[in-house]
Amino acid sequence: MGTYNIAVIKGDGIGPEVTGAAMDVLTKVGERFSHKFNFTESICGGAAYDKYGEPLPQESLDVCLKSDSVLLGAVGGPQYDSLPYEKRPERALLGVRKAMGLYANLRPARLFPALEKVCPLKNPGKIDLLVVRELIGGIYFGEKGMRRGKYGAEGYDVMAYGELEVERISRVAFELAQKRRHKVSSIDKANVLKTSGLWRKCVHDVHSDYPDVELEDVLVDNAAMQLVRDPAQFDVIVTGNLFGDILSDLSAMCVGSIGILPSASINETTRGLYEPIHGSAPTIAGKNIANPLATILSAAMMLRYAFDLSEEADAVENAVEKTLAQGARTADLKEEGLPVLSTTAMTEQVIKNI
Ligand code: IPM
Ligand code: MN
Repeated sequence: MGTYNIAVIKGDGIGPEVTGAAMDVLTKVGERFSHKFNFTESICGGAAYDKYGEPLPQESLDVCLKSDSVLLGAVGGPQYDSLPYEKRPERALLGVRKAMGLYANLRPARLFPALEKVCPLKNPGKIDLLVVRELIGGIYFGEKGMRRGKYGAEGYDVMAYGELEVERISRVAFELAQKRRHKVSSIDKANVLKTSGLWRKCVHDVHSDYPDVELEDVLVDNAAMQLVRDPAQFDVIVTGNLFGDILSDLSAMCVGSIGILPSASINETTRGLYEPIHGSAPTIAGKNIANPLATILSAAMMLRYAFDLSEEADAVENAVEKTLAQGARTADLKEEGLPVLSTTAMTEQVIKNI
């Protein structure tokens, strides 16, 4: 029996709906396994901008820093598109990740057997890959600005990686690969980028500590193609912030929908940030049609990584798998002959299966 204090950033768009679903699931897990999950709301993103005029108030960040772990829905929306960069909802997300030092973002993409028909690939094979994305460096956090250039106004964003940043994310990838199929694919653009040259060298240096793991280098353009051609060839993919952002969306679609991909953002402490990889999906917000599974599976990752509750995490993941096998589908997973469930109906069915 444990007590766990979870900060919840509901955020914007479908964020409140999907986090609500995950909280209900955690509450059920608490009942079944005799744990207490306390939820404290942290207002961030567009919701915080609307209320306080800034996307990440110190008070909201403090709630996250004081928690045992953070559950997040999504931030952003078209109504914030014209805001200056520093006020945009996305700054909150990047700010929380950075302030908590969450350099490793794990995004597992597994094809559930029940979703083989929903999968857009013809012969998907057994897809079970894990994208390990560096999360608090690279082009997202390099020097950026506006200046006058040869072609008029010019925006710039510097992509840089230091050895220690590459080393620590590589270790995460190799260690996870040791618990999986012992293969790491490091994705870069070493034929063009200096950053990638250093990235590649560092990954290989670290690899010498993990001789039981196979390492391959794949150029990012080729990696995109290979993910569509034969995603089952991948086990662990390790890559920088921007490539990881892009390739994880691609991986999500390979397994049926971005609506089912969870993520864990972690470091060597147990306090992390758990969020679906999809965004705020403003066009379907408030309609009770969003797929709650990515956030529910993110909660399962929280149970596993933050609280070391693997039995409980298995219970949630198995319930999701069973729910899909029973034919439950949200709109994004629409399959001929199966009824389309609302967010809440899907959540209820998962809860029943726990
Ligand atoms: C993600 C999102 C974010 C990112 C955005 C909202 C800043 O796309 O988590 O993948 O690019 O990291
Ligand atoms: Mn993204």
